[in-house]
Amino acid sequence: MRKFFIGFIALLFVVSMAAVTMVYAGAVKAPDKPLTFENKKGPVTFEHSIHIKAGLKCETCHHMWKDKTKEPKGCKECHKAKKEGNVPRLYNMAHKSDHSCKGCHKARKKAGKKAGPTKCSGCHKK
Ligand code: HEC
Ligand code: HEC
Ligand code: HEC
Ligand code: HEC
Repeated sequence: MRKFFIGFIALLFVVSMAAVTMVYAGAVKAPDKPLTFENKKGPVTFEHSIHIKAGLKCETCHHMWKDKTKEPKGCKECHKAKKEGNVPRLYNMAHKSDHSCKGCHKARKKAGKKAGPTKCSGCHKK
């Protein structure tokens, strides 16, 4: 009986460790290096770590991310220079609405919460 019990506990341990490993292997991680957007107004740097530490959810920005076992698509795979169908143009992706870069910073600043830059030169570096 005792042997059976120890065997059972050992099995439980192995199974749970395997489950933990699977969860970690499957989870998509945000890039830990800053990303740079090149554009005519001057390059913009974006750091995931700062935004994640501020408590933002992945889905707020990756608003079309459904399959969580795969990396989210890049914004520019959908948002192009000009509006296409119901997809707003790249400019709006970056500056308009509460889940765009500038839009979120502006809304949070107005609400008295900590936020990123809202001035052009705060994001676009020459
Ligand atoms: C404040 C907005 C924001 C938040 C929050 C955010 N991301 Fe991102 N993420 C971006 C932007 C912008 C890009 C760049 C997309 C591009 O290059 O078009 C990006 C790129 C990525 C990429 C790389 C895609 C590629 O091909 O380069 C991955 C992976 C990713 N994010 C995962 C995550 C995960 C996981 C979380 C949550 C833990 C998260 N992101 C939270 C805005 C955000
Ligand atoms: C699979 C295509 C797709 C991807 C990928 C995508 N978007 Fe969008 N986005 C859309 C569509 C469609 C809309 C309009 C409908 C809506 O708001 O959901 C939109 C709307 C927006 C808006 C609202 C703009 C406005 O004028 O009100 C913002 C901001 C935005 N996206 C930001 C992003 C960011 C940032 C990323 C990358 C982290 C991203 N999107 C990735 C398809 C996409
Ligand atoms: C939904 C809200 C939200 C969105 C969307 C968002 N940000 Fe931010 N951003 C923040 C907050 C909050 C902070 C302040 C974090 C802090 O001070 O701890 C911040 C900080 C920053 C900073 C300052 C970092 C520093 O060194 O202090 C930059 C630059 C920045 N964001 C760029 C961007 C860019 C570029 C995008 C779009 C690709 C973006 N942000 C999208 C909320 C947002
Ligand atoms: C919170 C950060 C942020 C602020 C503030 C900001 N921008 Fe941007 N801007 C971006 C990002 C991100 C992009 C997208 C770059 C890319 O993907 O090429 C962008 C792109 C642009 C583009 C190119 C659009 C296109 O279709 O190629 C122009 C022009 C621009 N911004 C002008 C401005 C001006 C003018 C201001 C000030 C009134 C400003 N931006 C403020 C982040 C910002």
